[in-house]
Amino acid sequence: MGLWLIGIFGLGSSTGCAEIRETSVWWLPRNVSNFGHEIDFIFYVILWLTGITAVLVFSTMIYFIVKYRRRAGVGAIHSHGNNTLEIVWTTIPVFIFLALAIYGNEMWARMRMETPPDDALQVAVVGEQFGWNLRYPGPDGKLAKMDAQKVGKDNPFGIDPNDPDGRDDFTTYNDMVIPVGKAVRLHLGSKDVIHSFYVPEFRLYQDMVPGRVYDFVWFKTDATGQFQLACNQLCGQGHYKMFGKLGVVTPEEYAAWAQGKAPAVATADSRPVPPDASVANR
Ligand code: CUA
Repeated sequence: MGLWLIGIFGLGSSTGCAEIRETSVWWLPRNVSNFGHEIDFIFYVILWLTGITAVLVFSTMIYFIVKYRRRAGVGAIHSHGNNTLEIVWTTIPVFIFLALAIYGNEMWARMRMETPPDDALQVAVVGEQFGWNLRYPGPDGKLAKMDAQKVGKDNPFGIDPNDPDGRDDFTTYNDMVIPVGKAVRLHLGSKDVIHSFYVPEFRLYQDMVPGRVYDFVWFKTDATGQFQLACNQLCGQGHYKMFGKLGVVTPEEYAAWAQGKAPAVATADSRPVPPDASVANR
């Protein structure tokens, strides 16, 4: 029934929509980011560890319940415990949990504390009730500097209007496009309340608290597709409709898209041209 409904919905949606999950509907969506593979790996390690433990514990328990059930003429056994057993089944989990904690911490450090590559595409994402403001660098590859204190109603990105890096930046609303295979560094902010940048296919989830700019989130994608950028923090009555399109496209498609969005400052061949020079060219 679920699959059938999803199939019908899939037929009705246009290609611009987020991809409809037709496979693995009851399981994780596919992953397209570099860190996502490691997150999935540790997820499956924990799932197998706890799964096997649960089967062993419950089957032993059921076996003992049946074996030592009350029977006429058989007396109860008085057990005062077994120190060797206690030590063994305490020590093994301690080492398993320590290993998971160390591995998880090391993974987190790589995701959030490692500096993104220098050539990463910088994208500013600012949440508001109820949508996503995005700002991309123009041909100069540089994004205007964001100042959390300047973020406001008329200045969602908190930039200085005279910042030369920002002259050729372009903005979009609820429309995020990134080139596949390229590192992307996010600069996350919020205009009003706490929102959260959430893309299940990236295994990425980061809260955005007003008054702060988070510039440590980065990732790299390894497959193209149409996804949804959802807000994952209850942020008001319109929270449910706070989602944007997120396309992971080929570098050529990205270049074409970015060129189409570039402000009038840039010329058709997309070379960086200061505003004064573009006037002189006419
Ligand atoms: Cu923004 Cu929920």
